[in-house]
Amino acid sequence: MSGHVERILITSEQIQKRIRELAAEIERDYPEGPLYIVSVLKGAFIFVADLARAITRPSVRIEFMAISTYGQQKTSSGQVKVTRDLDVNIEGHDVLIVEDIIDSGVTLSYLKRLLEQRNPKSLAIATLLDKPERRVQPVDVKYIGFQIPDEFVVGYGLDFAEDYRNLSDIRVLSS
Ligand code: IMP
Ligand code: MG
Repeated sequence: MSGHVERILITSEQIQKRIRELAAEIERDYPEGPLYIVSVLKGAFIFVADLARAITRPSVRIEFMAISTYGQQKTSSGQVKVTRDLDVNIEGHDVLIVEDIIDSGVTLSYLKRLLEQRNPKSLAIATLLDKPERRVQPVDVKYIGFQIPDEFVVGYGLDFAEDYRNLSDIRVLSS
């Protein structure tokens, strides 16, 4: 592994507390179901698992997509590719895209445009982390877990070259 883990930025307790708050907001905003959660693999897999379990109503359906932008680098290639598409029709449904982190905004603005073309009843975004300083493309994000400074973070699903996803807290990676 290149790079080493430097320090904890957000503890697992802080993450879990914030997820309970986000789940309460989502329950308030979507009183009637079903709510289609579209999770972006791989980085969001732990967040979506915890968030979905914290939402007790309405009925929640969990779907996965995979998108690649970064390859093995820390900086965005700016190229977005759908490597696994949805296998359900979201037309006429409330859809919540769940992401791990929004950085340049390239991935999410692409994904939002793509899913909007499929005529959902509503389409919103929830992200665990937001690095606002890095934004290149503006994206309207309805639920944000934490705003963080411009540092490369790993853990809780987020990787560097596929490592560190299993950490239960979020750490700053120094190289
Ligand atoms: P964006 O298209 O630049 O907004 O990048 C979004 C994607 O880049 C995320 O879904 C992550 O996979 C990856 N990414 C951005 N910043 C980080 C980071 O600090 N750690 C790990 N992955 C990151
Ligand atoms: Mg990633």
